[in-house]
Amino acid sequence: MGQVASIILAAGKGTRMKSRLPKVLHGVCGKPMLTHVIQAACDSGVDRNIVIIGHEADLVRDKAGSNIEWVNQSEQLGTGHAVMQAEPLLSGFEGSILILCGDTPLITSNTLKELMLTHTAAGNSVTVLTALMDDPTGYGRLVRDAAGEVKEIVEHKDASPQQLEIYEINTGIYCFDGPKLFAALKVISPANAQGEYYLTDVLAVLKNNGERIGAVKVADPSETMGINNRVQLAEADKIMRQSILHRLMMDGVTIIDPQNTYIDRDIVFGPDSVVYPGTVIEGYCRFGGNCRIGPYSHLKDVETGDDVTVQNSVVMESTVGNNVTIGPFAYIRPGTVLGDDVKVGDFVEIKKSVIGNGSKVPHLSYVGDAQIGKKVNVGAGTITCNYDGSQKWQTIIGDNSFIGSNTNLVAPVEVGQNAIIGAGSTITKNVPDGALCVERSKQAIYPGWVARKNKKK
Ligand code: UD1
Ligand code: CA
Repeated sequence: MGQVASIILAAGKGTRMKSRLPKVLHGVCGKPMLTHVIQAACDSGVDRNIVIIGHEADLVRDKAGSNIEWVNQSEQLGTGHAVMQAEPLLSGFEGSILILCGDTPLITSNTLKELMLTHTAAGNSVTVLTALMDDPTGYGRLVRDAAGEVKEIVEHKDASPQQLEIYEINTGIYCFDGPKLFAALKVISPANAQGEYYLTDVLAVLKNNGERIGAVKVADPSETMGINNRVQLAEADKIMRQSILHRLMMDGVTIIDPQNTYIDRDIVFGPDSVVYPGTVIEGYCRFGGNCRIGPYSHLKDVETGDDVTVQNSVVMESTVGNNVTIGPFAYIRPGTVLGDDVKVGDFVEIKKSVIGNGSKVPHLSYVGDAQIGKKVNVGAGTITCNYDGSQKWQTIIGDNSFIGSNTNLVAPVEVGQNAIIGAGSTITKNVPDGALCVERSKQAIYPGWVARKNKKK
């Protein structure tokens, strides 16, 4: 259908959100709603995205995403006025224009494709996406003539009592012939109940010019739900979440309890993985096959290999190899790399550290700013003392070394390969390869001492 540009309306404040954050930046399944709309436009094959911003324009520009052309609408004088602001950017543009709203995050690329296909096939000057609503209150109504042809859109506040009985509403999404849209926008006026330049008035202008105008009814009206308040935000979040989980299940992931599992949109699992209840997976995550995630775990920006188990744990911005077990009750902080066959057990915190293949940190340890080689055993209660009160320092442990329980490794410090540290040691000097190092006072034994003490009493 030639070139397509989208114009996404996002200049409004969103007063009913009662928020300092502009409405279109409120998140649905982990991403700003505007970002979902832009994504749907891109996936439907749009060549350029133009976003109209006004309220908190700089913040929206920062957070919404990339590959976007921005246009400022300094005064919000209506949806028609908003679209007019894009005209200079589109001078000489002969293609189609898809109009979208920044507050309809559930719209899908399939619906947009269908709208554009119908538009082109019918040779329309405009095709509007409509929906049948049980409760059409507040929406513009689609008025058809006796033959069923689209005649005009009348806003709720301007509608007659008969028109208020119409259940087919304007979703605010349209496909226009570009040059005809901008020509018709020159004719509309703000002589209406809200004193605004209504984009919807363009339909009647085109109709009066003898142009073909048409409509496509959306199959699932919830897709076009506009978010105005936080109740609707939660509803949209729930709808999108269920569709994400549905897709994952159809792709071979077991979700034990879909009502209690929260997974963002761009997350990918290998086959036969299982997600247990109470699990939140956010951002950009990639899981291999046969992973077991949860219950009650929180992961963000994590990449794993196959056969990884994460139980009742938090894992942030980290990379995990194959056949790794984490938890229960572990906290893996950003910048951590766990190799293959690693075990991180209960009540262990790991921060910005590399742990080599086959190494184990099974219980009650803090490992920060460390590089641990292969097949190292870090005994229970071992602590890397990485902070001297002003600076962070590194701990290095070579392959096959054994760190006895309750060891303090006072960084910067290095333990060589095949070394053994006796339990309870506080290590402040480097330990060479193959050495045994014990740092603890000698054990004293006083035979019969208890009986003598009791006699004195
Ligand atoms: C609009 C439609 C209505 C439709 C409804 C669907 C018009 C006149 N009415 O009404 O027929 O049923 O959407 O949700 O178009 N915006 C700007 N600049 C402005 C005004 C609005 O960028 O000057 C943006 C808003 O931020 C919002 C979108 O345009 O994202 C829609 O504006 P809004 O005021 O919510 O229109 P509605 O009254 O809902
Ligand atoms: Ca609205």
